[in-house]
Amino acid sequence: MRLGVCYYPEHWPAERWPLDAKLMREAGLSLVRLGEFAWAQMEPAEGQFDWGWLDQAIEILAAEGLQIVLGTPTAAPPAWLSKAYPDILPVDAQGRVRRFGSRRHYCVNSPTYRRHTERIVTAIAERYVRHTAVIGWQIDNEFGCHDTARCYCHNCASAFRRWLQARYNTLDALNEAWGTAFWSQLYSDWEEIDPPILTVAQPNPIHVLDYYRFSSDSYVAYQQLQIDILKSQITNLQHPTSNTQNPFITTNFLGNFADLDYHDLAGALDFVSWDSYPTGYAEVVARDLYEAKVVVKSQPQLAYDVGDPYVTGFCHDLTRGLKQAPFWVMEQQCGHINWSVFNRGVNPGAVRLWTWHALASGADAVVFFRWRAALLGYEQLHSGLLRHDGSPGVGYADLLNMQAERKLMEQVSAHPVKPQIALLLDYHDLWATQLQPHHRDFSYYRHLFVFYRALQQLGLGTDIVPPTADLGHYKMVIAPTAFLGSDKLAATLTDFAAGGGVVLLGVRSGFKTPTNRVTDQPLPGVFRHLVGATVTEWQSLPPGVSFDLASEIPNLGGLAETWVEALGGPAEPLARYASGPFTSHAALTENGIGDGRALYLGWYPTVEQAAAIIQYLTARAGIPRPADDIPPGVVVAQRGPHSIVLNFTNDTITTTIQGQSVTVAPRDAQVVLA
Ligand code: GAL
Ligand code: ZN
Repeated sequence: MRLGVCYYPEHWPAERWPLDAKLMREAGLSLVRLGEFAWAQMEPAEGQFDWGWLDQAIEILAAEGLQIVLGTPTAAPPAWLSKAYPDILPVDAQGRVRRFGSRRHYCVNSPTYRRHTERIVTAIAERYVRHTAVIGWQIDNEFGCHDTARCYCHNCASAFRRWLQARYNTLDALNEAWGTAFWSQLYSDWEEIDPPILTVAQPNPIHVLDYYRFSSDSYVAYQQLQIDILKSQITNLQHPTSNTQNPFITTNFLGNFADLDYHDLAGALDFVSWDSYPTGYAEVVARDLYEAKVVVKSQPQLAYDVGDPYVTGFCHDLTRGLKQAPFWVMEQQCGHINWSVFNRGVNPGAVRLWTWHALASGADAVVFFRWRAALLGYEQLHSGLLRHDGSPGVGYADLLNMQAERKLMEQVSAHPVKPQIALLLDYHDLWATQLQPHHRDFSYYRHLFVFYRALQQLGLGTDIVPPTADLGHYKMVIAPTAFLGSDKLAATLTDFAAGGGVVLLGVRSGFKTPTNRVTDQPLPGVFRHLVGATVTEWQSLPPGVSFDLASEIPNLGGLAETWVEALGGPAEPLARYASGPFTSHAALTENGIGDGRALYLGWYPTVEQAAAIIQYLTARAGIPRPADDIPPGVVVAQRGPHSIVLNFTNDTITTTIQGQSVTVAPRDAQVVLA
């Protein structure tokens, strides 16, 4: 595994660069990411390029043996561009133009912006693609961040109409698909269709879902514009006299981001990367993953400065699952951050723990953000590996401590992460349930995360994959809410089960068609033959109302809350409702299919209930667990024969992993060889 750092030479005097480069090498870093926000320095006025400073910075870094990942600078168009061409600016959901003065102030559907993107990307690629130190490219930065995934400008409105014409061909087809018979919404001209904002009452959910899809497709197309330019320059490289390396193309994602279809974006990249800020994610993003009551109580056993390992792990595993392949952490928190709620301090050991966590999750590289704390700009209060005064910070010290174990890291990295369980993630299901949660606490990601935490608690690795993934090498597939049920997914899961796999489908699966209309078939729609059961009744339950459960499965019982579905046969019931209107109806069913089986889980489970079901299923499916009893706050991950044990708690823990007793101090990571 390689280590690197994000560096902004444009923030520092050139006299300092050689010392920085030397300190980077001494800390064991071999990668530097540069340039992703430096458009104004690269092109101070339209058509006038200044590469001198970047040439010099790259030479200085390369002289210390550092390799460069170069960013295309399109996340931060310069002031001159924003003023001269105001139609590049995005419009928010209130119809207001967003302005210059921070970053991401552009619309991917602006023809003007696309033209300037082509210019700057071509220029930077022509300049550096031949440079032997430049090993790869990061396109833009965090697509969709700062609520920029969806723009509502007039360019987007026109592009949306074109997108709809390509999708539906005729207005009749659109009217039928969208169900515009409702509330007199029939369209008689494409020009009548607007982006779904500023409506008086709630808009048509099919209209909105299509806008989400269109917006995501717009980013995919914008990313492709940049990939095509970079690729054409890289192809020129294959000339026998030029350097023979093959630079990679990636972009940096945001973990469990919900506004773009990362599967579509990932498809065109050589590998994916993401930006990991464990304390910020624990404070901010965790709200989307836990029920409110859990976050408020927080998890007392976790050390206060390490973030939430389940949230961080979920994002690592989700990122790896996008291509079911190794990934990079393109930005790794290496001290306190500045954009969260408390921006808590970070103690010695935390950065090393995060680095091991990334490695345990299949990262090929970890690039720390950032080299030195900034004296200027919005991120003045953000830490770096070096402090403001240039002296080593807490992260730099951890890096030095890691030097002694770099060999061990290599040995572990040599083995792929190969879980036997897959969790299905579909952004379209996510969007559709987000548009109609039907219950305050129903959240697609939260539901997925219940199963993820249960798996983590049991020490079971998982890939979080798209429904189109090759499921061949998994033994079990969990689809918590396959909401927009497609015939294709039903066939995929049926084949998987028939071949000996275990399928676990959760509530609300198959409720709708891929268009986002409700199915006219008995529920769970396209999946009912697979699971051999039908949902005869369903209810959303308000807080305080719950139904008792009874089951023969060890540790499965307690209450069904939030969402309940009563199930009918012929599948075998494995749990039943024991109180309330669904009493004696099945709550969990199992159906034999070929050599495998398919289960339908009719309520929104707690982590404990999900763990009981998974434990029961994995024991029968012969999926091994590294340990019987993993303390809360401790993560155990598997790479080949190595179990990596990570302690995110305040206490020294002793536990048995692969039959061996291990003692791990707070913030420590240890490797157990089976
Ligand atoms: C990331 C972003 C970086 C920097 C960092 C601060 O989301 O990509 O440019 O802003 O956050 O934590
Ligand atoms: Zn727009």
